[in-house]
Amino acid sequence: LSSIRVDISGIDQGTQLTVQWLGKPVFIRRRTEEEINAANEVDVSSLPDPVARNANIQGEAPATDANRALATSEGTEGSEEWLVMMGVCTHLGCVPLGEAGDFGGWFCPCHGSHYDTAGRIRRGPAPENLPVPVAAFADESTIVLG
Ligand code: FES
Repeated sequence: LSSIRVDISGIDQGTQLTVQWLGKPVFIRRRTEEEINAANEVDVSSLPDPVARNANIQGEAPATDANRALATSEGTEGSEEWLVMMGVCTHLGCVPLGEAGDFGGWFCPCHGSHYDTAGRIRRGPAPENLPVPVAAFADESTIVLG
């Protein structure tokens, strides 16, 4: 697996960077407090896909916001700002648009899938949450994918 390093120092809160990795877009979003709170207010058992889909977590973890966010070296507690996901709709592979859709997250215009601020599918034909790839902080301003 080929790894890449991404400099995240220029990403302001409430914005995201899209990078290409293994030929696919990866969204790296620095979320606002409001986005994190909105994601935490959701009852996981009510989600169309209640599984975290996070390659950094062994087994089938629940799709809580903490299980979707990228943990910093200090751990996940209080560090749910960063969300890293493949920018590939789990329906038929279009690239969802950011800050769009009925749940304030991403919207796939191809057939109308709405993802929330944790990248979880909430409405539409997509069967699964946007997958979280293998990723980790190398230092406070660098994320390594893969
Ligand atoms: Fe995204 Fe169909 S490819 S909704």
